[in-house]
Amino acid sequence: KVYTDYFYNSDDFDKNHGMGYKELHIPEGVEAQPLIVPPVLEPDKQEYNDVWYTIESQEGDFQFLPGKKTHTWGYNFPVLGKTMVLTKGQHVHVTLKNSLPELTTYHWHGMEVSGPGNDGACHSPVYPGEEKHIDFTVHQPAALTWLHAHPCPSTAAQVWMGLAMGVVVTDANEAQLPIPKTYGKDEFPIILQDRIFHEDNQFDYKADYNAMGIFGDTPVINGVVRPYVDVTTQKVRLIFLGGSNRREWRLHFSDDLVMTQIGGDDSFLEHPVKMTKVLIGPGERQQVVVDFSNYKEGDVVNLYTDDFKLVEFRIHKYEKDDSVIPDTLFKPYDPVVNPNSPVPHVTMDNHNMINGKLFSMQRIDMKQELMTAEYWDVTNTNDKVNGMLHPFHIHGAHFLVVSRNGKDPYPNEQGVYKDTVEVAPQETVRLKVYFQNTGVFMYHCHIIEHEDAGMMAQIQIVDPKDPDKKYDLMDMETL
Ligand code: C2O
Ligand code: CU
Ligand code: CU
Repeated sequence: KVYTDYFYNSDDFDKNHGMGYKELHIPEGVEAQPLIVPPVLEPDKQEYNDVWYTIESQEGDFQFLPGKKTHTWGYNFPVLGKTMVLTKGQHVHVTLKNSLPELTTYHWHGMEVSGPGNDGACHSPVYPGEEKHIDFTVHQPAALTWLHAHPCPSTAAQVWMGLAMGVVVTDANEAQLPIPKTYGKDEFPIILQDRIFHEDNQFDYKADYNAMGIFGDTPVINGVVRPYVDVTTQKVRLIFLGGSNRREWRLHFSDDLVMTQIGGDDSFLEHPVKMTKVLIGPGERQQVVVDFSNYKEGDVVNLYTDDFKLVEFRIHKYEKDDSVIPDTLFKPYDPVVNPNSPVPHVTMDNHNMINGKLFSMQRIDMKQELMTAEYWDVTNTNDKVNGMLHPFHIHGAHFLVVSRNGKDPYPNEQGVYKDTVEVAPQETVRLKVYFQNTGVFMYHCHIIEHEDAGMMAQIQIVDPKDPDKKYDLMDMETL
């Protein structure tokens, strides 16, 4: 079976609601450029199972458009960053270095690390000119997670400047799967963003600010405005990351080329799903395999969002490929929920609130026991006429999507670990949430302007063996 719709109701798409929506366009004079594949970040040192890295937030200048370069921020790179590749089981030591003119944090979105120090959200500032050391062990399966700035309340502004990079986890299961996995050759991360360029090609976040979320009018894919990729007739794996502050990406190929989805946010899918369209919300990752074997040298296959052309795939060579994607890719651990457990109800409300409240750094909104699964019912209380999809994200944990308004979740969110899920107006999505690390973690809407404006809350994960453990919670005033 091939699914041919986006699953979500089109009335809820961002383009249908005004609220600052901008059509995409390619500025005049921009020629097609090869897609940048972020280089792999080299470790400082490696000893047996331990590996050391340095991640530096730095200022830079980057050529997005003809003419003046754009002033940017990035991780060990002018914009975005290099890709960190970790292996399950590794113990990772990271020096986080801040060479920016203001404080920042380094949040491991999708990584299961303890909070609030290690996971790098609002409570772990690194001040300008300073550095901080963290370490953690990788316990999770293969996936593309990501690192982005998360200072409260300027996450959106810092991500807009460029502070986001891929963090790939690999494992033995991935190594044995017959899927494309040569990074930069038949496996490409595709970081989907949009930006607004002002005079002299500069960003101006303040001028563009909109509490409903900022739409850019220019696509920027891995930092490239109009990218093409040279591929062969073999299968290609694309790992999409919804990296825009606000925009949803409604992807499909020319000729309705089938995408076989093999992975989601934090794992492979249990079973692959064939589809011609996929919606990617802010914060989400979706991995697909496309098969170019019906094309020939010289053909061009385009990737679109709505009817706007985003990426050109240029078939430059015939190569045979007999590989078959297996029917089973991964076995998620599906913990049993104690029927007596509470079912927390989280609402995403108008005026950028969660459960009727704006975020406060000093307030713990919920508690949950370590290694104890709970159902969470997450409701988007927006009305259907003016409401929008809100991408709900939890730090430090993965979850399983159990149901949408009591019905089965969408085919591509079954049997997969997620950390971000789109919730439609008047919809309740039931999640099965499980934490393997203690700490204080944020949960929030991943439209980053919503998060910064207060659509965020905190949960403390309690170890029954150490129930009174205290965490240092920062305050916005003391930052
Ligand atoms: Cu990408 Cu608080 O997260
Ligand atoms: Cu996160
Ligand atoms: Cu939102």
